[in-house]
This record gives sequence, C-alpha cells and structure tokens, in this order.
Amino acid sequence: MAEFVAVVLAAGKGTRMKSALPKVLHQVGGEPMLAHVLAAARQAGAARCVTVIGFGAAAVEAAIGPASEFVIQAEQLGTGHAVMQAQAALGGYAGTVMVLCGDTPLLTADLLGRLYAAHREAGAAATVLTARMDDPGAYGRVIRDRAGRVAKIIEHKDASPAELAVNEINTGIYCFECQPLLAALAGLTCDNKQGEYYLTDVVGMFVAQGAKVWALTAEDDRETLGINSRRQLAEAEKILRRRKLEELMDSGVTIMDPDSTFIDAGVSIAADTVVYPFTWLEGATRIGSGCAVGPNTRLADTVLGDNTTIHFSYAHECTVGNGVTVGPYVHLRPATVLADGAKVGNFVEIKNSTVGRDSKVPHLSYIGDTDMGAGVNIGSGTITVNYDGKKKHRTVIEDDAFIGCNTNLVAPVTVGRGSFIGAGSTITKDVPPDALGVARARQANIEGWVIKHKG
Ligand code: UD1
Ligand code: CA
Repeated sequence: MAEFVAVVLAAGKGTRMKSALPKVLHQVGGEPMLAHVLAAARQAGAARCVTVIGFGAAAVEAAIGPASEFVIQAEQLGTGHAVMQAQAALGGYAGTVMVLCGDTPLLTADLLGRLYAAHREAGAAATVLTARMDDPGAYGRVIRDRAGRVAKIIEHKDASPAELAVNEINTGIYCFECQPLLAALAGLTCDNKQGEYYLTDVVGMFVAQGAKVWALTAEDDRETLGINSRRQLAEAEKILRRRKLEELMDSGVTIMDPDSTFIDAGVSIAADTVVYPFTWLEGATRIGSGCAVGPNTRLADTVLGDNTTIHFSYAHECTVGNGVTVGPYVHLRPATVLADGAKVGNFVEIKNSTVGRDSKVPHLSYIGDTDMGAGVNIGSGTITVNYDGKKKHRTVIEDDAFIGCNTNLVAPVTVGRGSFIGAGSTITKDVPPDALGVARARQANIEGWVIKHKG
C-alpha cells in the first residue's frame, strides 16, 4: 500500500459543545473523536499522523498518546494557519499530505483510501473530498467551472447568493502534494469576512497556477459529518453504534435488540454469542463464542471465554474463563479471575480474587483479596474479612474446601485443602487440610423458659 502523511486539525475549542473538554476528546463509541480519525487514517495507509493542537493541548496529547505526533498552534488563526504549523514536522517531504479534521469520527478507512487512490490516479496537486447536501448550511461551497472542474472553495460567510445555492460542499478533507501546499500556504492572506487564513484558498491558488485540482464526492454524507454540538454528538454515537452492531451481526453474533444494546468500537465478540437487551460492552472487552450476555449487563475491559453466561451483572477489568455462569446481580471488580466452570451468582461481590476451576460462590457473598482453589464450595452469606481498618490482607482457600453458610474468614487466613468449616463460624486461625473448623458458641436449650417468663 502506498503511503501518505496525515495532518489532522484539532486546535479549535469547539465553542458550541459548551464544554471544558476540548471538542476532539468528546467520546463516540467509547473513544475520543480524534482517536477514530487517527485510526481511520492509519488504516488507510498514513505512515505518519501529525495532529495540530491548541485548546487543551496537554489534555489532547495525554489522551491520544503515541497514536500521533503533535504540533502546537498557539492562536487559532484559521485552517490554513493550522496546517502551516506542521511545516517543520513535514520538512522536505515530497509525497502526499492528507488533511483531516479531528471532529469527524464517522470517517472510514475505506473512504480515505478511495480519496488517496483518486488523488494519485488523477496525478492532482490537490483533491478535495466533497459531499452533496440538501441543506448545505455553514459548509464551504465547492464552485466548479463550466467544464465541471473545481474552480475554488468559497466559505459560506463570503459566498454570494448564487454560490450559497450550490449544494456541493467541502468536507474539510483533502489530499495535497506537500511541497506545492507549503509554498501556497506561505502566500495566504486573511483578506476575508472572518479575517482568517483559509486552507480552502489553496484550491483557488492552485487553479490560478494551472496545477491540477481534483474532487471525489462521498456517496454517504454521514461519513463526513463534523461534530459541533452535543446534538450532533448524539447523532454520531447512534450511527457509529449501529455500524458496530451490524459488523458484529454480519460476523455471526446475535444482537437481540440493537436499539437497546451499546457496544464500543473496540469490543470483539466471536460467532454464536447472543447479546440480550440493555447490555453495555465497553473498552477492550473481548467475548468468546457461544456465550449469553445480558440482559441488563455491563462489561468494561473484561475478557470472557467460550460458552459463558452472564446476566444482570456488572464486571470491570476481569477475566472470566469458559463455561462460567455469572449472575443475576453480581459485581465483579478489577483483577477478578474466574476459572473455567466456576459459578458465581445471586448478590455476590468479588474483588481482586481468583476463583478456581469449578468452584462455586452461589449466594450473597463478599470475596475480596482471595486466592481460591478448584472445587471449592462457598456457602451462602460467606464474607472474607479482608480489611482491618488499616491494611488489606489475603485469604487463601485451598482446593475442595467446603465453607458453611454465614462464615467470616478473617484475613490473613488459610483454609486447608479438603477442610470443612461449620456454618456461622468466624475463622481467625488457619484450618489444616481435611480438618473441621468450627468457631461459634455452642447452642443451649433451656426447657420451659418461655412459660416461666410469661409471669
Ligand atoms: C472548514 C472549511 C469549510 C468546510 C468545513 C467542513 C475552511 C476555511 N473552511 O470550515 O470549507 O466546509 O471546514 O467542516 O477551512 N482548526 C484549527 N485551527 C484553526 C482553525 C480551525 O485547528 O485556526 C481546526 C478546528 O479545530 C476543526 C477544523 O480545523 O477541527 C475545522 O475548523 P472549523 O473552524 O470548524 O472550520 P469551518 O468553519 O467549519
Ligand atoms: Ca467545522
């Protein structure tokens, strides 16, 4: 695949978002808008990405990390000025520069790949990605000559009524040959209604020089939707979510009700898993095949094996094996590992613990900071007492131990392999393997006591 350099404009504040967060960091499909743009550019063949930042620069850099290089535009003097800030980063580069905006999260690598291919095939100095819109609003208009060739781009504030009537708009996405672009930028003026250095003026300059300007029209204007407000953010969220669900359905996942299922762009699910309604799958969650997920389940950054069932539950940063049953009403907190065949159910919270193969925590328990072996049975209401008010301590429950109902295991403590704990015990000392541990007051019955006390 031939390669280009992407320059992404993201220095603006995004005033209409009414937000302290830079516009490009607002999330769609669980990731910042800018991250979607960078991913599409990379997939389409960008060898380097250079992002121009300004408002909230430090926050943008921190959120995006190594996915891009960054240059600063201290004052937002217009899109042409913004691209100029990348000049040093571009150096003597003689190839193609693709200019993108950080606020168009619905772009696909396929569209960008087609733009680059069209640009190369035409041998153009500039290729503009355009779209046709019934209501072109505040977009710049693409003005063509009688022969249908692009003549210039005019901003709506500077346009005549005849120009405003044109419904072909500039999406703000282009390919340029790098050196002619840098030369043209040096000659830009800000002689326009907004007093800005317009990148769009480069198009007219190229035409005047006799350089070839080409255009590609996107068939689906939703792909190039720019987000300027929270309303548009919600619109984009819906489109992206639908796209993800359709991708999953096409790959063999059953989504019972797409309207009530929310799956982030980065989630993967294998074939023959069924996702029930009111389910949120977030971040880097990965789900195997043959699972049943939901209803009413939220999984964040959680890995599920094959043939596992989880319903009415919430898990974050957990690893769950094959053939596991979780729910209803389970909270699995970070660093919880459930081995194959485990069963966790009915009002149970587990944190920073391992539950071994085929072990069961079926009812009303809190398990924290615990290493549990295989084949363990935890009776209803068992609590690991992991916190002494100052420090957390670990509980070890070895293979095949049987913990009676309503037991407190006061950590640090070890319950030996194959041992048995009497119901209602508060265990403060280690229990040896194969022993019975009981720690509760003996029962006494006083005959006739009630009748005597009736007085
Ligand atoms: C721009 C185009 C317009 C096009 C529209 C598509 C120009 C002059 N106009 O207009 O033809 O239809 O995009 O959305 O280019 N930015 C900077 N620094 C600046 C100014 C802008 O980084 O000094 C960034 C913004 O953060 C944004 C992008 O560039 O991501 C576009 O800027 P914006 O002000 O939204 O341009 P429009 O007026 O919408
Ligand atoms: Ca815009």
